[in-house]
Amino acid sequence: MANPVKYQCLAIAAWVVLLLPFCRAEPSQNTEAEALLKWKQSLGNQSIMSSWVNPASNNSTASNPCKWLGITCNKVGNVIELNLAYTGLQGTLLHLNFSSFPNLLRLDLKFNKLTGPIPADIGMLSNLQFLDLSTNSLNGTVPISLGNLTKVVEIDVSRNGLTGKLWSGLFPDGTSPAKTGLISLQRLLAQTTMLGGRIPSEVGNMKNLEALILDNNYFFGPIPPSLGNLSKLDTLRLNENQFSGNIPRNFGSLKLIDLRLFINKLSGPIPEEIGNLSSLVVFSLAVNNFSGHLPQQMCRGGKLVNFTAAFNNFTGPIPKSLKNCTSLYRVRLENNTLTGNVDQDFGVYPNLTYIDLSYNRLRGNISSKWSECQNLTVLKIAGNMIDGKIPEEIGLLKKLGELDLSYNQLSGEIPTQILKLSALSSLILNNNNFSGYIPMGIGGLPELQKLHLSSNMLIGRIPDQVGDCFRLLSLNLSNNLLNGTIPHNIGTLSALQNFLDLSHNLLSGEIPPQLGDLKGLENLNLSHNNLTGTVPDSLGKMLSLSAIDLSYNCLEGPLPDSNAFRSSPPEAFSNNKALCGEIHDLRPCNSTSAKRNARDTDHKLMIIVVSAVGSLFFAIVILGCIVVYFCKYRRNQQEDEYPLRSKNLFSIRNFDGKVAYEDIINATDDFDDIHCIGVGGSAKVYQAKLPSGQVVAVKKLSSPTEGMEIEDLKSFTSEIATLTEIRHRNIVKLYGFCSHGRHSFLVYEFMERGSLANILSSEKGAKELDWAQRVKVVKGVAYALSYMHHDCMPPIIHRDISSKNVLLDSELEAHVSDFGTARFLKQGSSNWTTVAGTFGYIAPEFSYTMAVTEKCDVYSFGVLALEVLKGSHPRELIPSLHPSARQGIQLQEELDPRLSFPRDQKIVADLEAILKLALSCLCADPKSRPSMHGVSQILELEMRMGNN
Ligand SMILES: *[C@@H]1O[C@H](CO)[C@@H](O)[C@H](O)[C@H]1NC(C)=O
Ligand SMILES: *[C@@H]1O[C@H](CO)[C@@H](O)[C@H](O)[C@H]1NC(C)=O
Ligand SMILES: *[C@@H]1O[C@H](CO)[C@@H](O)[C@H](O)[C@H]1NC(C)=O
Ligand SMILES: *[C@@H]1O[C@H](CO)[C@@H](O)[C@H](O)[C@H]1NC(C)=O
Ligand SMILES: *[C@@H]1O[C@H](CO)[C@@H](O)[C@H](O)[C@H]1NC(C)=O
Repeated sequence: MANPVKYQCLAIAAWVVLLLPFCRAEPSQNTEAEALLKWKQSLGNQSIMSSWVNPASNNSTASNPCKWLGITCNKVGNVIELNLAYTGLQGTLLHLNFSSFPNLLRLDLKFNKLTGPIPADIGMLSNLQFLDLSTNSLNGTVPISLGNLTKVVEIDVSRNGLTGKLWSGLFPDGTSPAKTGLISLQRLLAQTTMLGGRIPSEVGNMKNLEALILDNNYFFGPIPPSLGNLSKLDTLRLNENQFSGNIPRNFGSLKLIDLRLFINKLSGPIPEEIGNLSSLVVFSLAVNNFSGHLPQQMCRGGKLVNFTAAFNNFTGPIPKSLKNCTSLYRVRLENNTLTGNVDQDFGVYPNLTYIDLSYNRLRGNISSKWSECQNLTVLKIAGNMIDGKIPEEIGLLKKLGELDLSYNQLSGEIPTQILKLSALSSLILNNNNFSGYIPMGIGGLPELQKLHLSSNMLIGRIPDQVGDCFRLLSLNLSNNLLNGTIPHNIGTLSALQNFLDLSHNLLSGEIPPQLGDLKGLENLNLSHNNLTGTVPDSLGKMLSLSAIDLSYNCLEGPLPDSNAFRSSPPEAFSNNKALCGEIHDLRPCNSTSAKRNARDTDHKLMIIVVSAVGSLFFAIVILGCIVVYFCKYRRNQQEDEYPLRSKNLFSIRNFDGKVAYEDIINATDDFDDIHCIGVGGSAKVYQAKLPSGQVVAVKKLSSPTEGMEIEDLKSFTSEIATLTEIRHRNIVKLYGFCSHGRHSFLVYEFMERGSLANILSSEKGAKELDWAQRVKVVKGVAYALSYMHHDCMPPIIHRDISSKNVLLDSELEAHVSDFGTARFLKQGSSNWTTVAGTFGYIAPEFSYTMAVTEKCDVYSFGVLALEVLKGSHPRELIPSLHPSARQGIQLQEELDPRLSFPRDQKIVADLEAILKLALSCLCADPKSRPSMHGVSQILELEMRMGNN
């Protein structure tokens, strides 16, 4: 009896055993579904997971997850892939029970809004091959259990938290934001959440790992040598972290293709074994503290494309293998102490686009071989010991945009073939021994922005054609032997901004009054020449000028009375023939004729010697002159006193002379509402088409001059006059002010697309203003504010930055309107000096200090920038802006939902930069806010930087 029972039991057992593999899927699928639903529940309501229910019944435990969005199963129904990348997913991973997914192969959650730590039980995903959690806001450390993922092939946890790229980036000119005074931004960065900590040495257990990508986080400590055991590792990106210590020696036995270590705190020599890495394509070591020699066999495999080692302390020779490394595309070795020969140690690189060897100890001369690198756009070998001539073949580099050979010992003439470089934007040859003439056709370089030829031995005249380089931002021809006069058409270089330096030459003749047209110029140096005559009055009207040096010339007569002249040190005017003026220690111009005064000075000694009587007589003459002058001055002053009381106040300046008050009245049908294009808090704005065809915007005021004191009126009109002089591409041009018995109005440039507020409030407008356009808008406003705060003396504060005051032209480029006028545009205040401002944009300190500073504009800018990102006023965000509340702020959440999340990494980085800057502008403490100069500089750098 016992036997059949036993047999039966065995049979059942065998059947169970046989059947088991086929039945297993069911229960495991259920636990997977349960685990997923539990996670879903913890995340709250997320539309992306709406398919995560059983389609047949509402019984969720029995549901089939294989049909859910983002889930992939194998044939027997086990979840093998969870992919919710780019879905805007929010929340944490804390409630995802990893132990329920023993079959999971891929986990891809990149580009979401996940926060919190990576849970330790991620180590339970024992079959996982692919893990991508990049571009989220995860924080905490990497769990040691990651070492249990022995099958994993790729791990990417890069860019968690807002990226650190902007703040630690390698800037083109080697400066860092710390130097620009934006410490508060760095502090902000330290507060943002991100992954960090040491890398556990257990990563060495992931024997199948091919790619480990940890860049743009806050990892520190040494690079674990156990990584050297990962024989399949080909991609290792540790860039932009805080790693320290050496590169482990055993890395030489890896098969690395892509090794990025730039921007860390690594030090010590590069192990010579790295030269064994014959598959290397990308190798970047820039911005660390490495020392010693570069491995000689760098390019052993002949595959190296991008190689950067800039800003370290490398010594010794240029690696031998670079010479025949024809695969090179981008090379940066600047700012080390490398030795070698620019001719012999380098070869011909058909793909090379960018090479910077500046500030090393390289010798030799520039051979014509370089001209065979046909794709070169940037060639920089400044600050070495190169001699010889620039070869004529340089003209063959058709794509060359930047040539910097400054601070070497180059000689000979600047070859005229340089004029063939039609893409050249930057020609920097200063501090060499160049002789001969400045090439005559220099104006034929249409893209030229920087021309620096100072400290050479150039002779001859400054070619007139220089005036044709209409994009020129800085021109430095100082410390040469140039003679002749200053070409007057230098005055047509309207883009000139940074400096115009012609000092230490042999220039003669008068200063051309046209220089006064350089409204954007900040520094003007004409010192140490033989310039004669008087200083043109027009130089007093250079709005942006902050420093001027006219010393050591033969100038005479009065100095213009402007801030630049007043704020420059007395030495800036010393050693001239006879300058006079009310400023510094100069003699006052107390004679009707400055020339005569000057001559008098020259002869004074003689006069005294020749005759005391003559001298006395002369003194009487001078006294007479003074009396006459004063009387005249008083009379003029009296005439000046009542210009505003004359019957028609009409001061349209810089405007087509034919335009008259009547034209505007006619064009608007006496301010008929059909011409009204907007109503501000204080004024109605009309569109007026003038008889000339020109369209202008007319802002009608309720007579702001009414009841004003004479003094106020005077400063009012002089202020308007100044404002009409301002030219900046991001500031709405004010043509003038017009007042009559009945009407007062301001005449502005017409902006086709109206206000930013209008565009953002319409669905169509918001869509049209895409991410790239919005980045441009924020930049434009930043530039305008920076210009008015820092390039105008005295600084001009807007006081009412809001989306209503930012207007867009037909290209959707931003122009700030009402600059400098905001304070008298507000109606209902008897005193026009009271401050304006729009609710929701006003800096908090204003309510208790009532003091208007630039930092109030900075605050309003912060609000505006967030508004541009969000598409609406960021109300909820602002009250919570104490630093701790900022930690959770993430880009994805702050973007306008009407536009889809940008796919372009560059745009994402730009938007992140703007978000970060905007938040720092909203600091409650005005002192912690950056300056607009800092903001626009960072935006500029961010946009230009692109990559390492
Ligand atoms: C859902 O299904 C499971 C098993 O299939 C069952 O145990 C449970 O009672 C069901 N729940 C409901 C609410 O129907
Ligand atoms: C990782 O593996 C070790 C032993 O190999 C084990 O003790 C530990 O529990 C595992 N951790 C996880 C999170 O799976
Ligand atoms: C991670 O961020 C959260 C806030 O988002 C914070 O509460 C937590 O302390 C952070 N954890 C670490 C380890 O920084
Ligand atoms: C080399 O660098 C350039 C510019 O940074 C980049 O566009 C290119 O993709 C890089 N090449 C490789 C192989 O990574
Ligand atoms: C660079 O290296 C030199 C010599 O190897 C050393 O004297 C110097 O201190 C180093 N500089 C830095 C900044 O590490």
